[in-house]
Amino acid sequence: MILINDISKQFGTIQAVKGVSLSVARGEIMAVLGPSGCGKSTLLRLIAGLERPDAGTVELDGHVVSSKSQIAPPASRQLSLIFQDLALWPHMTVMENVAFTLSRNRFSRSGKAKRVKEILQLNSLDMLLKQEMMDMTMALRKEYRMAIIYITHDLEEATYLADKLVIMNHGEAVWSGSRADTISWTKGDFMDFFRR
Ligand SMILES: Nc1ncnc2c1ncn2[C@@H]1O[C@H](COP(=O)(O)OP(=O)(O)OP(=O)(O)O)[C@@H](O)[C@H]1O
Ligand SMILES: [Mg+2]
Repeated sequence: MILINDISKQFGTIQAVKGVSLSVARGEIMAVLGPSGCGKSTLLRLIAGLERPDAGTVELDGHVVSSKSQIAPPASRQLSLIFQDLALWPHMTVMENVAFTLSRNRFSRSGKAKRVKEILQLNSLDMLLKQEMMDMTMALRKEYRMAIIYITHDLEEATYLADKLVIMNHGEAVWSGSRADTISWTKGDFMDFFRR
């Protein structure tokens, strides 16, 4: 169980995270959504112990692991953090990155080259990686009953994957609720959270 209680983090004059509270039980997937710079990564880094909060606490399975005065090292937390930017190999070309994901499927060399071309023609590199990440997240939940926090900008992806959602803007959690609460939302309703 991950329990975040009224957590805040400031960098200089920027209030990156402001009084955020949330909880994620084992076997639950929570999606955190919001525009660039709203504090999603900072929130994850606070949970992982990579940042020290200015106020508030992080509790893991009932133990306080982060507060202003006390911070347990990241390695002691039994958490995994997958960074967005590592979804692609920086030393490979686009073609090589796509081919790499096919390696496990035992395509022949020419079959692989053909498949890479098809994939790139469909312009679906993002979709492919996204689907792979979503499949992996669901598999982890099923196999290990982990508490999972998934960061995205995409409402569709969030509602496909998550049991509950938190929407952030300017460092604050401006909405939180269950997937069912979002069923009647349009893209416009969702975007209204960011018009301020
Ligand atoms: N180490 C840091 N030093 C100074 N400012 C920082 C630092 N880390 C984050 N910030 C600032 O805090 C705010 C929140 O950043 P954060 O990276 O958490 O946003 P984000 O929601 O993850 O954005 P994105 O969707 O682009 O990944 C931003 O204004 C960012 O510039
Ligand atoms: Mg980020």
